[in-house]
Amino acid sequence: MAVIPDVPAQPAGSRTTKIAVVGAGAVGSTLAFAALTRGSARTIALLDIDRQKVDAEVLDLQHGLMFTSQAHVIGSDDPAVCEGADVVVVTAGAKQKPGQSRVDLAEATIGLMRTILPGLVEAAPDATYLMVTNPVDVVTYAALKISGLPRERLFGSGTVLDSSRLRVVLAERCGVAVGNVHAYIAGEHGDSEIALWSSASIGGVPLLDWVPVGGAAPLDAEVRAEVHHEVVDSAYRIIAGKGATNYAVGLAATRIIEAVLKDERRIMPVSSLLDDYYGISDVCLSVPSLVDRRGVADPVRVPMSDDELAGLRASAESVRAVQKRFGF
Ligand code: 2OP
Repeated sequence: MAVIPDVPAQPAGSRTTKIAVVGAGAVGSTLAFAALTRGSARTIALLDIDRQKVDAEVLDLQHGLMFTSQAHVIGSDDPAVCEGADVVVVTAGAKQKPGQSRVDLAEATIGLMRTILPGLVEAAPDATYLMVTNPVDVVTYAALKISGLPRERLFGSGTVLDSSRLRVVLAERCGVAVGNVHAYIAGEHGDSEIALWSSASIGGVPLLDWVPVGGAAPLDAEVRAEVHHEVVDSAYRIIAGKGATNYAVGLAATRIIEAVLKDERRIMPVSSLLDDYYGISDVCLSVPSLVDRRGVADPVRVPMSDDELAGLRASAESVRAVQKRFGF
């Protein structure tokens, strides 16, 4: 018995916001749940080739509607379900197994992008596209080339998640609220990512001048290296423990989508195609950038130490090397 029609109807009425989530796996369905509970959009559409899975996720989400703000949750295995979306967020892709790096997924996920992007762009030609699938920087670059979309309207979730991880670890170590920590991870969303220590601050104090309170250890070079390692290693530890990461990435992507839908001009380290950012061009990489209704606007030229700049350039080279392996 078919409970849900092939392409469910959109809600009637005035102009509303719509997010289309491509991939109903752990990341996509958690993202849909996060968007639903946060009231991010009026319509949340899920697309997955596995019709049974997508229908089940949609029903489960719909059954929570009494406890959320008014929304419509729809799903299909037909890309037409994405029609009219303001934001299409792509989470579909190969699953990272314990011991694998994100880059190990490149071949499978780039192949998948070639298959799915043309249909998505046909269904939602005016949407902003947020790529979450890993390796996200390479996938974002490939998706730009495959789709032909302008660089503003297709970008990756990049190191927004890693920056949250950094802030959480620093807040814990310093004994302050997460919201008091301003710090970015930049570069690849992956093993070569770097922490921008020289521009970081805690409660208005430059992080490098932070005087510990309540017996906490000072944030010296050794502690900073430990914190950086903890951040880079996070996904590996989570994947080893439960097979996938889903909650924080779902929240991070939802927050990026809200910045687009609400035209926030929020500075976030998303992965976008760089054009002479400290001399780095023609590679998708995360640096703090303005996100608004048009998608990703200009990157912010954050001051960097020589080491940070060298790290960012090395990260760019490492991403470029993977791109080249796949003919981009
Ligand atoms: C994460 O960092 C695996 O990219 C995913 O959680």
